[in-house]
Amino acid sequence: MVNGEEGYAVLKSMQILVALGEIFGAEKMTPVSSVQVAGVSYYNLGNAGLDYLENLAAQGARARVKTTLNPAGMDLENWRELGIDEGFAAKQIDVIKAFTRMGVTASCTCTPYLVGNTPTLGEHVAWSESSAVTYANSVLGAMTNREGGPSALAAALTGRTPCYGMHIEANRAAQVTVKVETKLRDVPDFGALGYAVGKRIGPKIPLFETIPRVEQLKSLGASIATYGGTALFHIRDITPNQTSTPSETLVVTRREIDGAFDALNDEASEVDFVALGCPHCTLDEIKKIASLLEGRKTTREFWICTARQTMQLAEKQGYAQTIREAGAKFACDTCMAVSPLKGRFKVLATDSAKACYYGRGTNDFRTKIGSIEECVEAAVTGKWS
Ligand code: F3S
Repeated sequence: MVNGEEGYAVLKSMQILVALGEIFGAEKMTPVSSVQVAGVSYYNLGNAGLDYLENLAAQGARARVKTTLNPAGMDLENWRELGIDEGFAAKQIDVIKAFTRMGVTASCTCTPYLVGNTPTLGEHVAWSESSAVTYANSVLGAMTNREGGPSALAAALTGRTPCYGMHIEANRAAQVTVKVETKLRDVPDFGALGYAVGKRIGPKIPLFETIPRVEQLKSLGASIATYGGTALFHIRDITPNQTSTPSETLVVTRREIDGAFDALNDEASEVDFVALGCPHCTLDEIKKIASLLEGRKTTREFWICTARQTMQLAEKQGYAQTIREAGAKFACDTCMAVSPLKGRFKVLATDSAKACYYGRGTNDFRTKIGSIEECVEAAVTGKWS
């Protein structure tokens, strides 16, 4: 491949992977069984990224393994309803066309593990969405580093990734035992836990003794990867890999959780945008949102970000109709952070610590974080108490 015998796209891809392997001291490549590519939104890619993808596609690049996409900059079907302009939409559609020409599935979700890209224990994969990476390593027991968009795509086109970091069993042991000495109530508490721990231990691998549900796991994984940088955490009795208990210990009390909420909440008593689903909502979360919205009307723009397949299930169950009748909108294929919303809204209400980080960073929002109940209330009244 690196001699160019399999064409330009494979040559370029292998050059990227070899360079990466040399930087990180990899001794060999490892085959991967699936890839998840981030860097899909035209908002982040711009024309240079689009040209790169179109050039690869024109050169005959083809994915060799199952490859799925992270969220794009808009709902690929209902983008008009979400207020996306025609010019952006045309460019975003070109991005998706370039990926699909390469044989990549345009699933456009950060929860590929909920909709069919679900590796199992010990499988080597190359994923780039940080929240999905932590889920794959920590809950499924698959093995992946946090890839960048280009290195993930290079892995898709070659079926290989450099063997270092999380691909080596010896590097996957827990390094810090986290003792949580407070009751964690719901999803935002797990996001706050990820914030508090991530800020303190950085990329070290923590061991938690607490046992969350799927929604809490995805919130914890998204947050700890955002604020700390680890690609793996251990949860006793959930993470499939064995690990010993590290002697280095971090104690988290209610004071640290409250401190995280203080850091994630900006000054504001009113909100103009509510968005749930970072990472993308599960069907259970959508069911809960529908039950809270039943018979009510929203007064603020309210997005429910989710995978298209999950929304289709919500349609069948009747949740989607209830949500739409209340004036809320599904934002499939996209999210509040990768969609071009700068200047349209000022204050975002969400249940996700990660959405606070990216909402502030990419769209200049002030942020409020609270439970799904508090977010739905804000969408109806416009107030944050
Ligand atoms: Fe997913 Fe967007 Fe959050 S990609 S993890 S919903 S920032």
